[in-house]
Amino acid sequence: MNFQEKYDSYLNIFNARLESFCRSLECKPEILSESMKYSLQSGGKRIRPVLMLAVAELLGVDAEVVLDYALSLELIHTYSLIHDDLPEMDNDDYRRGKLTNHKVFGAGNAVLAGDALLNTAYSILFDCCKKGREYVDAAGFICDGAGVNGMIAGQSADLYCEANKINDEKWLQYIVKNKTAKLITAAVAAPCVLKGGKYFLEFKQFGEDLGILFQLVDDILDEKGSFDKLGKTIGKDKEENKLTYVSFYGIDESCVIADVIYDRCIKLLDGIEGDTEFLKQIAAFVRHREV
Ligand code: IPE
Ligand code: IPE
Ligand code: MG
Ligand code: MG
Ligand code: MG
Repeated sequence: MNFQEKYDSYLNIFNARLESFCRSLECKPEILSESMKYSLQSGGKRIRPVLMLAVAELLGVDAEVVLDYALSLELIHTYSLIHDDLPEMDNDDYRRGKLTNHKVFGAGNAVLAGDALLNTAYSILFDCCKKGREYVDAAGFICDGAGVNGMIAGQSADLYCEANKINDEKWLQYIVKNKTAKLITAAVAAPCVLKGGKYFLEFKQFGEDLGILFQLVDDILDEKGSFDKLGKTIGKDKEENKLTYVSFYGIDESCVIADVIYDRCIKLLDGIEGDTEFLKQIAAFVRHREV
């Protein structure tokens, strides 16, 4: 199987779970489920679920065991995007090639769709916790990554630096490590927790590096990418005065840093037994992606 075929095989497993979740979702008024499904079913790379399934396979953890964790992570990620796009945050009109949630349903409904996705993710995680100690720990790890010392902290710092015109390397690292790397770390480290901690530290470090690389490349693509490929408006970071890798280091130095972090990802994977080829290919995809 080549990289794309392998990626698609994980994607198909995940999408089947997501579709069954969407079919079971019923809300009154209907606009609530409609707005949740609008963002959930509009595609996206699904890189977090794919990473989780890939690490699970490497560790010998059944896909079935991690699928609900992958689902809750994608719900949390999707909620973070809906809120991120709101006029009072990044003020974006397009996401995944479609109008943003608030453009279609209005800001109030978009806030609620995000809240609902987060709340539902936690309900799913609660159910997982009934299965035993390591399931509780894995759920807790995801909650921490999403929470006030994780993704939300990063988003808050992103707004704080924008509002106060802060241009500082330490803040940049804090933003990126939290707003993006924490959820990607949760994707690769949660299966380790379910496997009793096997390779936990290695995958935690890999997730952090891969997550930083992911955001760094996102920052580059915000300047050099194409709307048709990315499905979101280009040039918004500059327009909103965001503190990003590109605003701080410039494009050329950002590319050099990206190569260094990519090499670190590969070295970390070399220290892990088993077939890490697909994960290495994901790291290469993250470094060179245009989507
Ligand atoms: C976008 O995430 C937000 C960032 C963390 C940069 P993705 O690039 O994973 O978005 P989708 O899910 O593929 O749309
Ligand atoms: C957002 O980073 C990360 C999130 C936690 C949603 P960005 O604001 O750069 O993501 P995009 O470019 O809108 O996807
Ligand atoms: Mg943002
Ligand atoms: Mg944004
Ligand atoms: Mg961006």
